[in-house]
Amino acid sequence: MLFSLKPKESRIELFGRDKELNELHKLVKTEWVIILGRRMTGKTSLLKTFLNEVNGIYVNLMGVSSIRGLIYELMKSVKKLEIELDLKFIKLSWMKFAEDIFSKLEGKIIGLDEVQELPSNYFLRLLKKVWDSYDVRFVMTGSMVGVIRNLLEPGPLSPMYGRKPAVLKLKPFTAEQSRSFLVKGFSEFNRTIDEREIEEVVELLNGYPGWLAYYGNYRCVRELNHGDAIEEVYSEGKEIMLNELNRFLENKVNRRGYIKLLKSLPARWSELERSVGVSKKTLRDMIRKLMGAMLIDKIGATYVISDPILRKLVLEL
Ligand SMILES: Nc1ncnc2c1ncn2[C@@H]1O[C@H](COP(=O)(O)OP(=O)(O)OP(=O)(O)O)[C@@H](O)[C@H]1O
Ligand SMILES: [Mg+2]
Repeated sequence: MLFSLKPKESRIELFGRDKELNELHKLVKTEWVIILGRRMTGKTSLLKTFLNEVNGIYVNLMGVSSIRGLIYELMKSVKKLEIELDLKFIKLSWMKFAEDIFSKLEGKIIGLDEVQELPSNYFLRLLKKVWDSYDVRFVMTGSMVGVIRNLLEPGPLSPMYGRKPAVLKLKPFTAEQSRSFLVKGFSEFNRTIDEREIEEVVELLNGYPGWLAYYGNYRCVRELNHGDAIEEVYSEGKEIMLNELNRFLENKVNRRGYIKLLKSLPARWSELERSVGVSKKTLRDMIRKLMGAMLIDKIGATYVISDPILRKLVLEL
């Protein structure tokens, strides 16, 4: 069902991502892959569907920020395969234990969902060990911060220098895809959707599969009317995006500067220089970080907030 709120796990349920799935199949033959995408673009759905097709292993690392946490999640997934692990390695070190696990997964494709919070130096060292020693292939997801940035832009001292994974960028649906997604989803409930409502949803939700699925779910499963469904998507989405924004701002000294910047968008560089009131260097750095976290984009010469929910939310801050 297109409007279910869980990540999709099979090609029949996964709308409009055949090209990306085929690309993954091709890339994984020779490379490790990172699926990069914003919140709610369907990264987990693409990863899970792919892993089901290749009999791979799914590991959910949301909120996991230590190697110990990674191992714990790996063990949960490995248990399902009934593989015996040698617990003596735990006493030696977590890294050794992790290596033992990977040695037993030879020939497998492992999906690591949301790696961005793992500690960069340990994780990269572990990846290098696996790369050098075992036939294990990884597909990872996340946004361009922390360890992913270090993987994709490794300095010469990085353990993964010269071993850059391939990137598969997951974009939101086009307007046309969004329309078809809604029509198809409604038809699964033997319902049709009003043309004007479609246009409004397509315009407001900007092709984000997750938000479109929420909208459809509110209409068809919870039987809300169009206006209430949009309201609900917004209030649900607001929680998620607020959380995302707070995580980004957590360790920033000039929190207020960032909020000022976000509130000024869409804007060009010169407008931001005026409105944010920081040095050129600071502004450049702030924009780089916001783009890295995929909170903002640059279209032509204009900086914008692409996510429709974040855009609205920022104005309320
Ligand atoms: N291609 C798709 N076809 C059908 N439904 C989809 C598709 N992509 C995403 N969805 C739906 O959108 C919602 C979010 O998808 P998913 O969890 O895969 O996204 P995500 O990018 O991993 O999100 P997050 O950033 O929160 O981890 C789910 O309800 C899922 O069923
Ligand atoms: Mg996900």
